[in-house]
Amino acid sequence: MTDNMIAWDLGADRVLVLTMDDPNQSTNTMTEAFARDLTATLDRLEAERDSFDGVILTSGKDTFFAGGDLNLLMNATPETAPQIALGLDTYKAAFRRLETLGKPVVAAINGTALGGGFEVALATHHRIALDAKGSLLGLPEVTFGLLPGAGGVTRTVRLLGITSAVLNVVGQGQRMKPAKALQVGIVHEVAATREEMFDKARAWIAANPEAAQPWDVKGYKIPGGTPSSPAVAANLPAFPANVRKQLKGSPMPAPIAVLATAVEGAQVDIDTAFAIETRYCANLICGQVSTNMIKSLFFDLGTINKGGSRPEGFPVRTPEKVLVLGAGMMGAGIAYVQARAGMQVVLEDVTVEAAERGKAYSAKLLDKALRKGAITQDKYDEILGRIHPSADPADAAGCDFVVEAVFEDPGLKKKVFGEIEHLVNADALLGSNTSTLPITDLSTGVQRPKDFIGLHFFSPVDKMPLVEIVVGEQTSDEAIARAIDYTLAIKKTPIVVNDSRGFFTSRVIGQFMDEAIALVAEGVHPASVEQAATQAGYPVGALALADEINMKLAQKIRRSLKENLLAEGKNWVDSKAYPLVDAMVDDFERPGRLEGRGFYEYDADGKKLGLWPGLVEKYTRDDHGIAFIDMQERMLFAESLDTVRCFDEGVLRTVPDANIGSIFGIGFPAWTGGVIQYINQYAGGLAGFVARADELRAAYGDRFEVPESLRVKAAAGETLG
Ligand code: NAI
Repeated sequence: MTDNMIAWDLGADRVLVLTMDDPNQSTNTMTEAFARDLTATLDRLEAERDSFDGVILTSGKDTFFAGGDLNLLMNATPETAPQIALGLDTYKAAFRRLETLGKPVVAAINGTALGGGFEVALATHHRIALDAKGSLLGLPEVTFGLLPGAGGVTRTVRLLGITSAVLNVVGQGQRMKPAKALQVGIVHEVAATREEMFDKARAWIAANPEAAQPWDVKGYKIPGGTPSSPAVAANLPAFPANVRKQLKGSPMPAPIAVLATAVEGAQVDIDTAFAIETRYCANLICGQVSTNMIKSLFFDLGTINKGGSRPEGFPVRTPEKVLVLGAGMMGAGIAYVQARAGMQVVLEDVTVEAAERGKAYSAKLLDKALRKGAITQDKYDEILGRIHPSADPADAAGCDFVVEAVFEDPGLKKKVFGEIEHLVNADALLGSNTSTLPITDLSTGVQRPKDFIGLHFFSPVDKMPLVEIVVGEQTSDEAIARAIDYTLAIKKTPIVVNDSRGFFTSRVIGQFMDEAIALVAEGVHPASVEQAATQAGYPVGALALADEINMKLAQKIRRSLKENLLAEGKNWVDSKAYPLVDAMVDDFERPGRLEGRGFYEYDADGKKLGLWPGLVEKYTRDDHGIAFIDMQERMLFAESLDTVRCFDEGVLRTVPDANIGSIFGIGFPAWTGGVIQYINQYAGGLAGFVARADELRAAYGDRFEVPESLRVKAAAGETLG
């Protein structure tokens, strides 16, 4: 039994190597069976203590340990939560026995150790991380609405002090490469090879026969001090305020719970601290937010990043040499992420100077990475050397992939494709980064519409994780597969949607801004409108976003959309937002941040100063009568209902695409787990959502009309997806 999941290998040098290797799974996770084996292993360790001088804990898998069973946590209810809390306590007790064994224990972390996986390592006296490719370390629980409940908060606080533990490890859930983990102080050494890792482990055991955790050594003090020491006490009141400031009022319980666990736990003995940690963790586990976030940010995202929407039957094919047309803001960013991923890039613009400027953007980002020590000079030269600025279409020769990012003008886009189509490889994929133009129409400009596809990036490209892949009527399955392979290769998340005006993201984000601007037009103070959005969990207010996107652009897109739809004999409903947008652009000449004048005022560097007072003078009325919750739900429901329409119209294909696309692409509040999860988990389920939408429709208009498909599902007691 003991060596079923944890192999016991005592060497002639009296160093015991324990290899965690669950035979029933591809990774080691915190199952009940594993807990049983761990407990049995500890019994044997204590019984046979005299037979070894030290222990190396490692894993037989590629990863060290994958952590808790998120499926179990996602489905937890208040009824099952006590059982889960008991499980946490079992692990805590086992880890405590390991660190108080009286023999040195070293974690030889041979691969990724995140969450519960890293908590295992924290219970050893010395952590050596192998610098394996893709290896990540840390405690990311907070990003799933949880906190590390197997001793993770308690031990990092005792290891690093409250401030560093919260800021660098548990508060934001950073996933760190080994070098970063060393810098932060959660591992002690990094090894380049397995052999070096084990040599270091043996050497450390030999040098530290009496090893104990720092907190078990007499006279130990928490680094930086406890909450009652003057230096910490002076700053303590600001901690929750800062967390709340970062959250901007978003209803996410985990960051505050992490902080409370850290601060309360630092004032008491370790066993009490563990009990506090379990209590806060169990509360989060049975709450709705962790369910939402695990569902979308772990499972949905996992499905997508494993190529869940990739058509089968095509071998993985990633580009070697990519032609980027247009070296402006988007083209420059796209060139950078491709070069970082190892692709050769021809970056073409109308003049060599413009193309060089695009390349200089990469140099700027690489300078920053070099300064931070994230890359070496050799790596810097290698990456930058892959970008070849050009103004000569002939340089397109040999490219097997094209990403077009010239101005948003269909005529120009067709023209540039026409210029290069015969120069690139005969089967090169032809991608356009249009943000609004229908792909099917653009594809009429090329000879091979089956190879034409939308690759909608988000700005700034190096930071934004999403690419919305847009499938035109003629786009082939093979082109979709290649676009997904490309997106994953540049380490972005691909969602796949069918062609339509504004696709999914640009269309639905428009609802958010229209609703917010309409509220201002209806007399609500613009500061309340912004607050309603951020307190609902949107990362930025809709008015700030409208300034960022620019209302001149929004106006242009809306006018051409209206013209086209009316010409097609389709329906068009004006929003109360439009007269205000038109006034902002045409009368007040305040189209957005670019001009330094929008809903907000900006300084010469584009820094946001404050809301434009004219807006309040001209529009705000005390008697608007709109409740704060209605403001929030108008935004959330407008986006949700339009998302359902996107499914009905065949624009969206899968629930994971909708959930992840809404969080990553349009800033739908992450605590909801994305737009479909928001609808499904609304109080009262789908029926509750439908009833509330009916109320909003009665009060505010037909745009809140519930699509029939949703009403039918609600009546049948079903959920979406
Ligand atoms: P930009 O104005 O910064 O860059 C466009 C570049 O294309 C300029 O450098 C221009 O010189 C170049 N160009 C024009 N004609 C050309 C030609 N014949 N051959 C080669 N290069 C030519 O525009 P931005 O913001 O980079 O947008 C580019 C595309 O990306 C547009 O279709 C836009 O809708 C789309 N997009 C923009 C986003 C944004 O946030 N700005 C987000 C997602 C997509």
